[in-house]
Amino acid sequence: MSEKLAARDRMIVALDLPSVDAAEAMIAKLGDSASFYKIGYQLAYAGGLPMVRRLADAGKKVFVDLKLHDIGNTVARGVESLSALGATFLTVHAYPQTMKAAVAARGDSGLKILAVTVLTSYDDADLQEAGYRLGVRELVEQRAHQAQDIGIDGLVCSPEEAAHLRGIVGPSIALVTPGIRPAGAAVGDQKRIMTPARAIMAGADYLVVGRPIVEAADPKAAADAIVQEIATATV
Ligand code: C5P
Repeated sequence: MSEKLAARDRMIVALDLPSVDAAEAMIAKLGDSASFYKIGYQLAYAGGLPMVRRLADAGKKVFVDLKLHDIGNTVARGVESLSALGATFLTVHAYPQTMKAAVAARGDSGLKILAVTVLTSYDDADLQEAGYRLGVRELVEQRAHQAQDIGIDGLVCSPEEAAHLRGIVGPSIALVTPGIRPAGAAVGDQKRIMTPARAIMAGADYLVVGRPIVEAADPKAAADAIVQEIATATV
């Protein structure tokens, strides 16, 4: 990625919370310590989508993680609606039709389309069961090439895949990595994790961090420590 980003703007806090009230309380607690938030299924389907506009109006960036995949026309109309809300990132599954429709519909609105190559909960056996011939590594590579050819703005990947994908797609595509755990933090259900500093050194542009912040006793202090670690890794 060519843009030079401040450390704080590379941390995306996943608002994996059950209600708008809980999310608003977390945003208030974090204050200026966070500038970028992710709204996924849980909050979006609990009435959280109008928060995209409110956060954007308050100068924050919003990653809408709804992983769209449908016929091209439906994807395009959804992308148009989300770009009108002021979202910065939106995920789609990395199917060529879906990616083409999303990139065409985002136009020059400022919304960036991120592709999810293969869900990190899938292994080779899951892909085979779902009817795929390729294993995870081959399918991730094929879809990364397709995403780049189509003009996708970024890829979501595990930090372990970041260096390999950077080698495939080059510097201009943003790599966004969940699975971040500061040293000593609870791992939870994540399998392939890295510390913030190591993920940045592996080539990640943005780090998505949920539970290490939103479940911390002091979320603001947890966020500040992660930003500090990102800053240290980028000098
Ligand atoms: O709490 P934690 O830091 O594990 O949250 C990570 C966030 O990133 C969650 O919102 C999760 O849905 C999302 N995510 C992920 N792995 C992916 C894609 C998204 O953990 N492959």
